[in-house]
Amino acid sequence: MISKSLDKAIELLKNEEVIGMPTETVYGLAGNAYSERAIQSIFQLKKRPYTNPLIVHIGNIKQLKELSDEIPQKAEMLAAKFWPGPLTILLKKSTKVGALVTAGQETVAIRMPNHPLALDLLNQLEFPLVAPSANPYQSISPTSAKHVDRYFGNQAVFTLDGGESTNGLESTIVGFEEEEVIVYRLGAIPLEELERIVGRVRLNEVNQNGIVSPGMAPKHYAPKTPLIFTDSLSKRIQQLDTNNVAIICFDKLPKVNNFEDSIIYSFQGHLGNAAKRLYGLLHELDDRNLDCILIEKFPNHGLGRTINDRLKRAAVTN
Ligand code: TXA
Ligand code: MG
Repeated sequence: MISKSLDKAIELLKNEEVIGMPTETVYGLAGNAYSERAIQSIFQLKKRPYTNPLIVHIGNIKQLKELSDEIPQKAEMLAAKFWPGPLTILLKKSTKVGALVTAGQETVAIRMPNHPLALDLLNQLEFPLVAPSANPYQSISPTSAKHVDRYFGNQAVFTLDGGESTNGLESTIVGFEEEEVIVYRLGAIPLEELERIVGRVRLNEVNQNGIVSPGMAPKHYAPKTPLIFTDSLSKRIQQLDTNNVAIICFDKLPKVNNFEDSIIYSFQGHLGNAAKRLYGLLHELDDRNLDCILIEKFPNHGLGRTINDRLKRAAVTN
């Protein structure tokens, strides 16, 4: 069920229920971070393995101290610059944070979302909210209340409608080893922007405990329709043996003789729009019974790098 009622959302969360929550990145499946019952429901609804930890969402900086007693200086600098916003920070957890949230790890992932309704919600509660993206394990993240409702509406999940997510890609995840800033998941804040604040960062898909951040797992974010991700669109089109396809390009439309009846879509060279629209477009195309979705590699910088990362994991082939 989709609703704009903040009061209802608050009531459900206080009763340890789980709701769909809007954020600027993607919608989350949110519950009381201190409620084992709510956390269990999240894992069950998503069919998510317990080895995959959850992000804790806060509405103000006071709540941060409750979750961690050790905040490195670079973490403070990044939080000051990017919160509220699409940056998730891994910090040593306090005793208040349960083992289910962190999958037994010593670090907890924390983020303050930049969405007015989400901030309102968080600030009216006396507990922070755990919220993974509101999609079944390994499928495309939701960027609207409708997407969440399609995934979980039939399981009586209430979704708070906060409009379309403005960023459209998940948060960037950073952690700290000694003085070094490590990026565990590319996301809505490009590496270049992080480096402007803290200098050189290191991209690493495996953390100190040897655990791959599951958002970095090889298969993830996938539509049901086979997705072909290619750096030579024109050549790859010629190899298709069907025209019941969608062709998505970053900028200029390729020559597409014999594909007049196919869906052809361009982001017109705009990375920000592409980031915002990409998941929504994949959701729509997934409903059309296409034989495949062919999508071109993006310029590999800024948000283009994050988009390429996601598409690589969503693709069956290139
Ligand atoms: O933008 C986002 O981050 C969205 C919105 C709802 O906030 N949330 C999101 O959550 O993408 P999720 O659960 O789909 O992805 C969180 C990622 C997972 O890959 C998880 O493994 C990683 O964060 N993560 C969480 N806690 C961690 C920890 N303590 N150490 C390492 N990775 C962690
Ligand atoms: Mg996710």
